[in-house]
Amino acid sequence: MIKPVYVYGSSVLRKVAQNIEPNYPKLDELIKDMHETMYHSDGVGLAAPQVGISIRLFVIDATPLADENPELEGFKRVFINAQIAERSKDLVLYSEGCLSIPNLREDVERPDSIVIKYQDEDFKFHEERFEGIAARIIQHEYDHLDGILYTDRVSMIRKQMLKSKLHSISKGKYNVPYKTKLV
Ligand code: NI
Repeated sequence: MIKPVYVYGSSVLRKVAQNIEPNYPKLDELIKDMHETMYHSDGVGLAAPQVGISIRLFVIDATPLADENPELEGFKRVFINAQIAERSKDLVLYSEGCLSIPNLREDVERPDSIVIKYQDEDFKFHEERFEGIAARIIQHEYDHLDGILYTDRVSMIRKQMLKSKLHSISKGKYNVPYKTKLV
């Protein structure tokens, strides 16, 4: 089932999300719904807080970007209870957008590579290094679990320039072709 995407201004996007146990109710269904919601809105990643659920879960499917970025072929994962264990010192700028912040893109500086520990949909433990766009998408989704949005990470000047746009979004003044919610 496609779920509404919570939009900038919704309090759930600012909460620190909680770890979950394997007995979390209806987890399979939630993961399935999150994938449907992500595909429906043409996203490559979606975090549980974006569908109003404050738990440490995000899904990524970057295979639509693999035509232009062959290294993303097969990069489809479910991340549960993830912890970023290492961040590279070298930072890179890359343009980001977010389904929760309609019609906006901004350059954000982040570490180029990371090591992340996480559990998959079967609660199997993994530790993996990612770099480039894969690391970028993971860090963006991971931030959602800590109540951080990419617009928090842009330069002071850009932040000033975005203020009124973000304010309008939080008042419901936006138009997107997918279901949203603002509470
Ligand atoms: Ni996002």
